[in-house]
Amino acid sequence: MARGLLAAAALLGFLQASSSFEVKDSSGKVCILADLTVAFSVEYKTNVQKEFVHFFLPQNASVDSQSSCGKDNASHPILVLDFGGGHSLSLNFSESADKYQVEELVFHYNLSDATLFPNSSTGGMKTVSHKSIIQAHMGTQYRCINSKHINMKNVNVTFSNVTLEAYLTNGTLSVNKTECAEDRVSTTTMVPTTPKQTTSQSPTTGPAPTSPPNPTVGKYNVTGPNGTCVLAYMGLQLNITYQQKDEKMGLDLLNFVPHNTTSSGRCDNTSALLNLTFEKTRVIFQFALNATAEKFFLQGVSVSTTLPSEAKNPKFEATNNSMSELRASVGNSYKCSSEENLQVTDQALVNVFNVQVQIFKIDGDKFGPEHSGILSRCSSYLPFGN
Ligand SMILES: *[C@@H]1O[C@H](CO)[C@@H](O)[C@H](O)[C@H]1NC(C)=O
Ligand SMILES: *[C@@H]1O[C@H](CO)[C@@H](O)[C@H](O)[C@H]1NC(C)=O
Ligand SMILES: *[C@@H]1O[C@H](CO)[C@@H](O)[C@H](O)[C@H]1NC(C)=O
Ligand SMILES: *[C@@H]1O[C@H](CO)[C@@H](O)[C@H](O)[C@H]1NC(C)=O
Ligand SMILES: *[C@@H]1O[C@H](CO)[C@@H](O)[C@H](O)[C@H]1NC(C)=O
Ligand SMILES: *[C@@H]1O[C@H](CO)[C@@H](O)[C@H](O)[C@H]1NC(C)=O
Ligand SMILES: *[C@@H]1O[C@H](CO)[C@@H](O)[C@H](O)[C@H]1NC(C)=O
Ligand SMILES: *[C@@H]1O[C@H](CO)[C@@H](O)[C@H](O)[C@H]1NC(C)=O
Ligand SMILES: *[C@@H]1O[C@H](CO)[C@@H](O)[C@H](O)[C@H]1NC(C)=O
Ligand SMILES: *[C@@H]1O[C@H](CO)[C@@H](O)[C@H](O)[C@H]1NC(C)=O
Ligand SMILES: *[C@@H]1O[C@H](CO)[C@@H](O)[C@H](O)[C@H]1NC(C)=O
Ligand SMILES: *[C@@H]1O[C@H](CO)[C@@H](O)[C@H](O)[C@H]1NC(C)=O
Repeated sequence: MARGLLAAAALLGFLQASSSFEVKDSSGKVCILADLTVAFSVEYKTNVQKEFVHFFLPQNASVDSQSSCGKDNASHPILVLDFGGGHSLSLNFSESADKYQVEELVFHYNLSDATLFPNSSTGGMKTVSHKSIIQAHMGTQYRCINSKHINMKNVNVTFSNVTLEAYLTNGTLSVNKTECAEDRVSTTTMVPTTPKQTTSQSPTTGPAPTSPPNPTVGKYNVTGPNGTCVLAYMGLQLNITYQQKDEKMGLDLLNFVPHNTTSSGRCDNTSALLNLTFEKTRVIFQFALNATAEKFFLQGVSVSTTLPSEAKNPKFEATNNSMSELRASVGNSYKCSSEENLQVTDQALVNVFNVQVQIFKIDGDKFGPEHSGILSRCSSYLPFGN
């Protein structure tokens, strides 16, 4: 199993960062640009049982020579991405009236590739496909930050953080965007009715900021294929600095209210996601496993929210995928009773209070041995395995 983990870790490079691809015609003119994160879940058989493997489109996937800009009416633009031991993902485009679409998504995978499919009882190539998954207005870039799931026989493909445009005329992404339905939902949700603990002020000119009370500690968990894989207790506060319409700076401090917070998430062998949504605000914690060191850590935090109406741009998003926080040995829990400030970007801080987390190996839905109170600055504490 350790070998499997390492192989998967090497293949993913641990990061699920998005990758950029382009297709050019024979004269060198770019006709398709794509920047996307693609997660795969594949079910296959071994002699013993059914297995599920989860992996991402690696960053070093290559644009196959079958990719093309299409020839007038004779053929359509197509982007073919090759990766690993003989796998490929194709996006076949078509246009109609004022729209273009991914007419068909095709995934070819090679069950003989023991790196991804150890002990597969059958070898050889498999193909699955799905019609019309993405549609956008001609002359606009398709943008979709949220996940889009495509379920096929034995294979699920999840696209996220997608920027895509086909039928490019001048080789660059269009300024105008077609936003996917998944993203529009999150920006048009109703204004909250609960008295939330938000303060909005101009630090430069406004009255002295009044600190909001500490957030209430919420208890969150995620269940994976092997039971509970994320157990997290914490109070959660967001601190966002933003530009107002009058060019002054505003501050949005928001406490998550646990009983109004919905949690979801998912885990695979090397990463775990905890997705917390409170009203129009979402914080996604991404944990990763360092298999060699047998440690888990917080690798990424994404924040999305809607700012008060005086904000110049009400939609706010921030992501940091190169963090290394809340570290602890697998089988143990990370605990900190003082406040910790997780810097997502210059504009966004996620403050966690009384945090205790454990990822992956969780015995009986209870925290393992904890490491706390030894150092006052919890963030710098790296517990020893035991
Ligand atoms: C892609 O990267 C993985 C490890 O990160 C490596 O094993 C593989 O050979 C690379 N593939 C190509 C085509 O460069
Ligand atoms: C989306 O992709 C862009 C460009 O690759 C990257 O800078 C950004 O961090 C990604 N966002 C998320 C939420 O992963
Ligand atoms: C695909 O997703 C569905 C639920 O949406 C799930 O039932 C199925 O097991 C998944 N298949 C794979 C191969 O992950
Ligand atoms: C493409 O088809 C249209 C009508 O369907 C025709 O008018 C046009 O000449 C065709 N273009 C080429 C290059 O074949
Ligand atoms: C391409 O189009 C965009 C807007 O659609 C424009 O900003 C840009 O200057 C154009 N580039 C060239 C080389 O024409
Ligand atoms: C972008 O969309 C706006 C509104 O529909 C339109 O007025 C503008 O011309 C478009 N810009 C480009 C570069 O297509
Ligand atoms: C969290 O744990 C409770 C009790 O064990 C369980 O009922 C619930 O489904 C779990 N939630 C998730 C998201 O796994
Ligand atoms: C919020 O962030 C601002 C700017 O980074 C900082 O000055 C302020 O102290 C923070 N407040 C809290 C409660 O975190
Ligand atoms: C928050 O929870 C309270 C009590 O359960 C409920 O009355 C209220 O409607 C909830 N608010 C939202 C926005 O869900
Ligand atoms: C589930 O447990 C099995 C057996 O210990 C292990 O091989 C597999 O990696 C685990 N899966 C996850 C997602 O933790
Ligand atoms: C987070 O959860 C919300 C629903 O609560 C869902 O719409 C969204 O797709 C989830 N995001 C991720 C990255 O799982
Ligand atoms: C994993 O841990 C080892 C040993 O502590 C370290 O050298 C390596 O950089 C870590 N890898 C990641 C991805 O953090």
